Amino acid sequence: MKKKLYIETYGCQMNFSDSEIIASVMQHNDYELTKTMSEADVILVNTCAIRDNAEKRVLGRIQEFRKMKQNKPGTTIGVVGCMAERLKEDLLKTQKDVDLIAGPDSYRHLPEMLEGIREGQQMANVILSEEETYENIEPVRLDAKGISAFISIMRGCNNFCSYCVVPYTRGRERSRNPETILNEAKNLYDKGYREITLLGQNVNSYNFQEGEKYLDFPELLRQVAAVHKDLRIRFATSHPKDISDKLIQTIAETENIPNAIHLPVQSGSTNVLKRMNRKYTRDWYLNRIETIRKHIPDCGITTDIIAGFCGETEPDHQETLSLMKQVGYDFAFMFKYSERPGTLAEKRFDDDVPEDVKSRRLQEIIQLQQELSQQSNANDLNKTFTVLVEGPSKKDAKKMMGRNQQNKVIVFPASADIKGQYVQVKVTGYTSATLLGELIS
Ligand code: 5AD
Ligand code: SF4
Repeated sequence: MKKKLYIETYGCQMNFSDSEIIASVMQHNDYELTKTMSEADVILVNTCAIRDNAEKRVLGRIQEFRKMKQNKPGTTIGVVGCMAERLKEDLLKTQKDVDLIAGPDSYRHLPEMLEGIREGQQMANVILSEEETYENIEPVRLDAKGISAFISIMRGCNNFCSYCVVPYTRGRERSRNPETILNEAKNLYDKGYREITLLGQNVNSYNFQEGEKYLDFPELLRQVAAVHKDLRIRFATSHPKDISDKLIQTIAETENIPNAIHLPVQSGSTNVLKRMNRKYTRDWYLNRIETIRKHIPDCGITTDIIAGFCGETEPDHQETLSLMKQVGYDFAFMFKYSERPGTLAEKRFDDDVPEDVKSRRLQEIIQLQQELSQQSNANDLNKTFTVLVEGPSKKDAKKMMGRNQQNKVIVFPASADIKGQYVQVKVTGYTSATLLGELIS
């Protein structure tokens, strides 16, 4: 009988994509997936280490798994991903009920590691690789809708932003063979998928070299977009320093690359950006935005912002607010700075912005973004968008939901038989997070 595997995933899209790779490795080794934790033989939690609260959440979940194990002795608990990599064997020492820890480059070895666990013993593999891209593993798609899928095109990060733990948890940057990416895209299209997000910590530094062959990110994008005109190709995440004119041109020229760019700014102050080791200034970032707007006037622009980084003054914070207004972001992920052990910021700077000041600044950033998002939605009123229909709306089964090019969710009355199709939807209203519309025949 096959053993049952339950996977829970935290963190970024990359982690969700990794869980699909893990599921594939395990299915090829006599495991089957279950959505019911209580019937699992193996529980894996794929973790994130980016902020302290992400780790706290996982530690809380491990307590739940422990209770499960008490009721069902013999259940194996594994912690995988960035937190496993960051804490390494310490995690095993402090969490006696955890049987296995596996870093992001060791997923091929999970079955043999699980096999090797004996009563009372623990297993660990946190070796990072300079080559592993899992390129020949066909992920098991865990998203049930069957319309939108991730393809991981590169792994690791060489940027060393001073606040960030990722270069330490995911290792050096490496790009995946484009042929395997193109094959995966073709397979997905044949299976009915209509949207692909190319994933990497910094996709626009993708470069693949083999003998005479050299491919950069804009060229890869062009080739994946050529798989089929009805396959939308998105990508995440981009680093502003690498958002070249060539990339902007490629997005502008290619019909099925949606007009949407997620471009994390982190701070609007050049001083803070310097301490963050972001390798660009406020003006440089604003110039990139100007170039994007010039070539792709209707481009959706979204971002990530950190409030209260080391040494951030009130004027620095005001510069973040003014930059947000100047760009007019459609959406933002906003965070309070959380010091991560081992990072450059932890070694070089004091985490000196008091907690209440961090909270207040974050609140001001969130408040402003709500206004900007509201404005962005108001600007869409009466416009008609091409929407890729993903499935029924969660809240109302008589309505369908999909996304426009700018990646905004639109809900509209329609029947389920248009799932996977491109339709024209006119925006008639909006809530804080969603556009509301009607089908145009
Ligand atoms: N503290 C707060 N936010 C962080 N991010 C990365 N590291 C930290 C940290 N130490 C945010 C950045 C990044 C996003 C994925 O998480 O904004 O773009
Ligand atoms: Fe979290 Fe970063 Fe790891 Fe993604 S890569 S899981 S965001 S620490």
